[in-house]
Amino acid sequence: MTIMTEEELMALRRAGKLAGEILKKMLEHAQVGMTTGELDAFGEALMLEAGAQSAPQVAVGFPGATCISVNEEVAHGIPGERILKAGDVLNIDVSLELDGFFADNAYTIVLDPSEKTKHLEHLCQEAKKARDHAIKVLRHGAPLNMVGKVIEERAKKAGYSVVRNLCSHGIGRKLHEEPEELLGYYDRRDKRKFIEGMVVTVEPFLSTAARWVEEGDDGWTLMNRPGGRSAQFEHTILIRRNQPPEILTPCDYNC
Ligand code: CO
Ligand code: CO
Repeated sequence: MTIMTEEELMALRRAGKLAGEILKKMLEHAQVGMTTGELDAFGEALMLEAGAQSAPQVAVGFPGATCISVNEEVAHGIPGERILKAGDVLNIDVSLELDGFFADNAYTIVLDPSEKTKHLEHLCQEAKKARDHAIKVLRHGAPLNMVGKVIEERAKKAGYSVVRNLCSHGIGRKLHEEPEELLGYYDRRDKRKFIEGMVVTVEPFLSTAARWVEEGDDGWTLMNRPGGRSAQFEHTILIRRNQPPEILTPCDYNC
């Protein structure tokens, strides 16, 4: 969406702040031995308590309140019986609707990291940097394909591939809306430009293996190649004129 009024901005800020808080609490709550279903139930309770709804549930009938993807799962993992283990790459993606406005954010951690998981922590750090670098350059008048350009350059430099069929997107009155998809790699044919007030997510997926992910047998989960690992970090942001965008989903978990 493109924000037109102060009321819209305030409502989006409220949705974003809540999404960031719930993500942070879920990251702090996650521990070895817990099931992804338990972690999701914890997040869902926080949403309901605040009068919010799970965006993937409302928008696409997702069978969980949040998306929890572990190890070979890249995105849209269904919370359930899976038990979290030390060294797991855990991605939590919280998107919600509050008073008619949507916000979306995600974070990836290595659970109980050790010497053996240093390389996975590096993957996470680089995915986070890719997101933050992309966010910094976006403002009124900048080409939309800057998102993909920055992400692709950072990923390449760090030795990872970008998952090409997972995109950032417009958001606001719906979970996915205009200006639609923002690719994670550079597309020189994309001539669209950012305008002041536009609300989008920035969410690079960096992977050790796959450039493409495929849908798993459950019809939702997007999978890496066997043994592959990926990391994604996401913020919902507001494009402004002559200044860096506003991060609408501040999540002060380690950042
Ligand atoms: Co998300
Ligand atoms: Co998103």
